[in-house]
Order: sequence, then C-alpha cells, then structure tokens
Amino acid sequence: MKVLIVGGGGREHAVAWKLRLDDPDVELVAAPGNPGIAEVARCVAIGTSDVPALTELARSERPDLVFVGPEAPLAAGLSDRIRSHGIRCFGPSRAAAQVEASKRFSKECMLRAGVATADASWHADSESAKRAARDLGAPVVIKACGLAAGKGVVVCESIAAADSAIDLMLRFKAFGEAGAEILVEEFMTGEELSVFFLTDGVNFRSMIPAQDHKRLWEHDVGPNTGGMGAYAPVSIATPDLVRRVGDEIVAPTLADLRDRSTPFSGLLYVGLMLTASGPKVVEFNCRFGDPETEVVLPLMKSELLPMLAAAAEHNGLASAPAVAFSGGAGVTIVVASPGYPDAAQTNAEIRLAGAASNAFIFHAGTTRDGAGVLRTAGGRVFAVTGVGDTIRDAQLAAVSGAASINFDGAHHRRDIGWRELARHAGTS
Ligand code: AMP
Ligand code: GLY
Repeated sequence: MKVLIVGGGGREHAVAWKLRLDDPDVELVAAPGNPGIAEVARCVAIGTSDVPALTELARSERPDLVFVGPEAPLAAGLSDRIRSHGIRCFGPSRAAAQVEASKRFSKECMLRAGVATADASWHADSESAKRAARDLGAPVVIKACGLAAGKGVVVCESIAAADSAIDLMLRFKAFGEAGAEILVEEFMTGEELSVFFLTDGVNFRSMIPAQDHKRLWEHDVGPNTGGMGAYAPVSIATPDLVRRVGDEIVAPTLADLRDRSTPFSGLLYVGLMLTASGPKVVEFNCRFGDPETEVVLPLMKSELLPMLAAAAEHNGLASAPAVAFSGGAGVTIVVASPGYPDAAQTNAEIRLAGAASNAFIFHAGTTRDGAGVLRTAGGRVFAVTGVGDTIRDAQLAAVSGAASINFDGAHHRRDIGWRELARHAGTS
C-alpha cells in the first residue's frame, strides 16, 4: 500500500508514524513533510497551498490513498481535484469543508439540524454587530467567519472589548476576507472536549475524546494558542456522552449536509463545550485536530489505514468495526519557540537528547538547513506524547520527553492533563 500525506506538522508526523507502526511495508510519501516525517516517508517539497502541484504529485505517484491533514487545501478543493483523477482521497470536498472554512455555513447547518450550540448572528457591518453584542451582553464571543489560522476568535469580557474586536475585523480588516463577515456569539461556560468522528458521509465511528489546552502558560493563563498540549482519555467523556454526541450532533449534521448535496466524508472534529445544560458545539473542524491527533493515535489499537480508506469510500464504514483503543493514557506536550503565539522566533539550532521508549517525539515546526542541522521553523516546534497506564505516568513520560529537547528559548507546559489528575485525586 502507498499513501501520500499532505501536510508537514505534528499531526501529519503522528499519522505517518502510526501508518508505519501498523504496517512496516507501507510506502509513504509526504508533501511537504518535515525532518521527523522524513524518517518514515519520502518528502517532496510542495507546500500545502499549491493545489495544482499537489494534484500533479498525486497523479504521478498514484497512491492507494491521499491523506490531507490541514484545512486550507481542503477548503481550496484539493480532495475534489484528486478524486476527479480517480484517486482515493481522505478529506471532505471543498463544499463540505465549509463546516470549518465558514463559521456562518457551519452555524446555519447546526441550526437546520437542531444541533445544540451557542446562539449567534452574523454581520458584515459593524453597527448591527455592535447591537447584537449588546443584546447578548458580556462576555460575548466575536468570530471571523473565514479561516484565520486559529486567530479569528476573540472572547470579550466587556462590551468595549467586543466593540474593539468588531472594529478590528470589520473596519480595519485585520483578517482580510476571512473577517469580512463575523459571528457575534453567546459565551458558553464549561469544560471543552475534542471528539473525532471518522465518516464516509453516512456512517461514522468515534475516536477517543481528548482535551486540548489552549492557553500559553501553566494554570491555563496567558494568550490563546493553537494548543499547548492535550490528553486522553478524559473521564468525564463517558461512552454514553460520546454516543449522545453521535446521535444528537453528528448524525443530524451529516444528514443535513447530505440533504444540501454537500455530503461530508473524512474526519469531522466536534469541538464541544460541556455546559450545565448538556454538550454544545463550539466549532466543527473538517480535519484531525492538532495537537489532539498526537495523543489519540498512540492510544489507537486498530489499524489506521483501513479506517481512513473506508471513510474515503461510498458507504465504506457500513460494516467497519468500532475503533479500538488501548486502556492506557496519553499526554502530549507542545514545545514552543520564544515569542509564540504572537511573533515566534525561529531558526534556532535544536539539540535532541533522545527520549525514553514511553515518549514519542513528533516534529511540528522543524527544518534542516543546508548543512543538515535541525532548526526551529515555527511557533509549535515539537509535540511530545508520553503514554502510560495512568494519566500521571503519561504526564511524567511527556514531561521528561519534552525536557530532552533543547533550543534557545524553548518552553513548554508541565501541567497538561491537570484537570484529569485533579479528578483522580478527588476520587481516590
Ligand atoms: P474556535 O476557533 O471556534 O474553536 O474558538 C477558539 C476557542 O475560543 C475555543 O476553543 C474556546 O476556548 C473559545 N470559544 C469559542 N467560542 C466560544 C463560546 N461561544 N463560548 C466560550 N468560549 C468560546
Ligand atoms: N486543537 C485545535 C484544532 O486542531 O483546531
């Protein structure tokens, strides 16, 4: 079997690692990949935004499956292009990728499908947006409708802050076209949860829920980031809760998308808020989450490729078994560059001391310079996953794995999974 992986982050490294672990004979090609992925795949220097060149690569490689990691090429129609050449592709069409690429599309879909979510309205002019913010009252959430690299959501503690966020997006066009329309949304309180559903458009299979840690610093303070770590399993995400999310959120959403002639296949990422009145959707993503993938895949016992291939086939998951997971726990810690998330400093030389066998080091933002020296190339540089029988063992393994990575200004959180540890302390 041959798989072409599109992407070059920690998520794609974890996917490549899992495919190789499942099948030592699998042939892996990655575009663009990264130095970690290069240990298991042949990397081709094509960026994820170059849809024509990626399509051409798929045509010349003729893989059994193309796996598209990030949202931007999906929103740009890469999977449609690849499928039009008769090549199997994991990832939704451009039209269905709007569940992530357009927060208005996503919210309209949830409303039609009767899915529990925050109240919201959408606006292209700042006066009506400011009125809507006053109607909801603070705190209130202002969101750019389009893709804004994880930066388009502002949780506003006051109406004045909401006014500034609205002006930033609609008047000063801080996010360009992505912020030409905005959502003014009710603020929800509760714990967040990320649940992945593999789907062929009709049938779906859940994966083990994970919890992301978005804030930069320990104790969940500091600015929001793309995610500083994640852990799984999450004990409050009971099998009953996951079933309920499948029945009440995923099934009606997929049905609505089929009814609109935009069937969704690939991975539906359901970002939830566990509110006092039940789980509500914060967002849908049209692809695997990052860094959640790096913690979910090392715990997955089932082989990944058959599930990805089934999801890419019409009705392919109809007779697929449930996805099996090990009984253990995982903690992923992101090692970040100084200045992240605002202005990450890169190009620092990286020294790896080597990690223990219960820690996996996934490259997220690394590169090799002309002399072959490993250097930082992004804000999130590594995702280090520790596994163990308990969340405490997993955290210890992740913390020592993260400490084995050295570069100037490297920093990471050591408290990933603290909520789960507190729950265990409360019950033991
Ligand atoms: P999103 O990009 O939609 O996932 O939003 C980024 C983060 O903003 C989420 O993970 C939440 O922490 C927060 N957020 C988004 N929408 C809401 C909401 N309606 N209420 C509370 N927090 C929210
Ligand atoms: N971890 C959040 C995301 O992948 O969007």
